[in-house]
Amino acid sequence: MKTVAIGIIGYGTVGQGVVEVLARNAREIERRSGYQLQVKRVAKRSWQGIDTSTLPFACDTDPFAIARDPDIGIVIELAGGEHPAFEIIKTALEHDKHVITANKALIARHGDALFALAREKGLELTFEAAVAGGIPVIKILREGMSGNEVKRVAGIINGTSNYILSEMTQKGRDFADVLKEAQALGYAEADPSFDINGTDAAHKITILASLAFGIPLQFDSVHIEGIDALTPDDIQDAAELGYSIKHLGLAVRRDNGVEIRVHPTLVPQDALIASVNGVMNAVQIQGNAIGNSLYYGPGAGKLPTASAVVADLIDVVRELNLKGEDRLAEFGYSQVLDRNTLPVLPPEDFNSAYYLRLTVADRAGVLADITRILADNGISINSVSQKNRHKHNGHIPLVLLTEKVREAEMNAACAQLAALPAVSGAVKRIRVENFE
Ligand code: HSE
Repeated sequence: MKTVAIGIIGYGTVGQGVVEVLARNAREIERRSGYQLQVKRVAKRSWQGIDTSTLPFACDTDPFAIARDPDIGIVIELAGGEHPAFEIIKTALEHDKHVITANKALIARHGDALFALAREKGLELTFEAAVAGGIPVIKILREGMSGNEVKRVAGIINGTSNYILSEMTQKGRDFADVLKEAQALGYAEADPSFDINGTDAAHKITILASLAFGIPLQFDSVHIEGIDALTPDDIQDAAELGYSIKHLGLAVRRDNGVEIRVHPTLVPQDALIASVNGVMNAVQIQGNAIGNSLYYGPGAGKLPTASAVVADLIDVVRELNLKGEDRLAEFGYSQVLDRNTLPVLPPEDFNSAYYLRLTVADRAGVLADITRILADNGISINSVSQKNRHKHNGHIPLVLLTEKVREAEMNAACAQLAALPAVSGAVKRIRVENFE
């Protein structure tokens, strides 16, 4: 049996997971790939505290030495972060190695340049582990859904924020308290603000949007909101209306462009995705042939992420003898035709239903003023409820659900609502997704 030599950059949780999966499933992997996969060199910044004498590979500290090693056929980049991961992958491609990465930030922000280099060199650059770890969603969009025009991708793609929202919803716990626990569980990013403020989910939805629509990667055009402004009152009010609040990454195809956005979202409690709790991830994809389909699984963790990396490895090995032009393109779109030029729409052009929460003076005519402003902006109301239990100093919270509206109209209406003398403080708004 032929052997392929592999170099791994990064020997943290996922790197160790990859080594473990390759050893544990060696026979099955050989049967599937037809090759023996041998981890030859692994780079880690420092090996202090690790007994390297027991490890069956060379332990390096210089990732570039592996990226340049003529004996290595495939490099797995698990260092994370943008730099020097970009330079390491570039060096590996320049030295004719196929590359597998789990690095979502790098792919979302610099992927197009690296894919161009890989194409030019006739090499593979694969990234299944970059989105939703254990759910093979890259493969689903690139291959399984390729007979569809994809209409919408909606995903719970950050386990940490889903864990926090689930705990707040199910146990009425405090945001800060749950965040600490999520960090201890080891799911949070090196910088946990990326989980909370939506950056991590935005990296992932950038990648999913390119796979869904065949558009270039456009992280800078993603509209991003985190979960930090949500309160237990929002969660309770949503529940009373039959909704759960989930942090979703959405990529939606419209006639005039695509919406790519990340934000807290009210989803109907009876939608399957509403029952995805804890650190689990789920991605719902709507295609014009399949209709709706939902994929569920662990979004991170040692072995689920390693499972995705090893699946990429087997794919690359199976195609070792193909020429560059015979390989499946990174997003599954042939390079023969021009790329899709559908623009990413600015937020003013988004179309969404809304949950609005206002604190208003409890007196005659206030509701009439509010509904007049909404009507003047062409916004249709779905329901109104007054939360008398929270009456304070003659003011009460008013919660409204609207029908779908263009965001520019909603912006105008909210500015006018906030200016009403009867309205105190800011108007809270959260988008609603009914998955019609
Ligand atoms: N911080 C990420 C999460 C890890 O919480 O989902 C996986 O990308």
